[in-house]
Amino acid sequence: MNKIQFVIIGVGRIGTKYSKIINENPHSELIAAVDIDFNKRKSIHKLLPFFTSIEDFLAAGIKADMVCVCTPNGLHAAHTITFLNAGFHVICEKPIALHLADGYKMLAAEAASGKKVFAVMQNRYSPVSIWLKKLIDDHKLGEILFIQINCFWNRSQQYYSESPWRATLELGGGPLFTQFSHFIDLMIWLTGQPSNIAAESFNLNKHIKTEFNDSGTIKFDLENGGTGTFNYTNAAFDRNVESSLTIIATKGNIKVGGQYMEKLEYVNLEKSTQIPVFDKVTTANDYQFYQGSLDKHDEFLANVVHCLHHNLAPEVGIKDGIKIVSFIEEALAAAEYKNY
Ligand SMILES: NC(=O)c1ccc[n+]([C@@H]2O[C@H](COP(=O)([O-])OP(=O)(O)OC[C@H]3O[C@@H](n4cnc5c(N)ncnc54)[C@H](O)[C@@H]3O)[C@@H](O)[C@H]2O)c1
Repeated sequence: MNKIQFVIIGVGRIGTKYSKIINENPHSELIAAVDIDFNKRKSIHKLLPFFTSIEDFLAAGIKADMVCVCTPNGLHAAHTITFLNAGFHVICEKPIALHLADGYKMLAAEAASGKKVFAVMQNRYSPVSIWLKKLIDDHKLGEILFIQINCFWNRSQQYYSESPWRATLELGGGPLFTQFSHFIDLMIWLTGQPSNIAAESFNLNKHIKTEFNDSGTIKFDLENGGTGTFNYTNAAFDRNVESSLTIIATKGNIKVGGQYMEKLEYVNLEKSTQIPVFDKVTTANDYQFYQGSLDKHDEFLANVVHCLHHNLAPEVGIKDGIKIVSFIEEALAAAEYKNY
């Protein structure tokens, strides 16, 4: 089997992670990288071609199968479209876009190009998520009446100073996009697209300078009836507290918790069901002074390689990303106009 050849665009925190896992996978190899910051060259192997602009990379005419778009959030849509038009498959880091209209432009570019876009939602590979999804799809929980999601994280000034784009509306977009889109994805994957969204947002840590509020609460109706609430903050003291999901349903109650919904904390089901022991510890991406989301990029990459080798559609694609952007865009608009 030919190795899938990768190029990384944006060799920051997550781009560096890709450079490691691409070379660890026996079926993939990194052949070039692009970053506007020349210093990022030291994060990849010194013999690989390195470019400081996408234009220079494209002008060099290097052939590859796939680019990984690991640039700031607000650039994902434009960069994905550029590379689709240039004939590459794309891995697009989360969130796929900061505006719904850009998501639809990406969808049109993907269709016109005949290439595939893989959206990154690696939390779906958590064993607890997989088990819970099957439980719901097999109707073992019955009708879902109420869900509550709590994401209580810490993001320090150092986090924003390291990469100032994270603090801007134009390139970062705020905590729902940068930190919590993973949990919005899990919520939609498990319970469908919410509607009738009401929201409020507020700023709890006045010492951290960003262009957006660090916290909020969102209320909505579930696709198949029932109600949901989503509470979030980046202002937890010192470190992340939790990302938890509680489901109250007609045939059972469940709570998953931990930092990124990787632990089963409570189960009570009408019918006895074998409950697996989730003893394989799932870890977070560790960035020294802050913890990111679930460390499952290696499994995600293995799946991408498998899909390309067998010409399969992405498990998570632009349409899934659009659902997340749609929820966030509506929640932010509702919060701005005080619809709560
Ligand atoms: N899936 C996950 O769990 C996960 C985890 C971390 C980050 N991310 C996502 O990855 C993206 C990058 O985050 P990060 O924390 O690595 O940020 P970062 O600031 O560490 O890295 C971004 C890099 O992009 C480079 N860059 C900016 N503009 C560019 C351009 N026009 N062309 C080429 N390079 C450019 C910057 O110089 C920087 O090196 C974000 O969208 C973030 O949401 C996802």
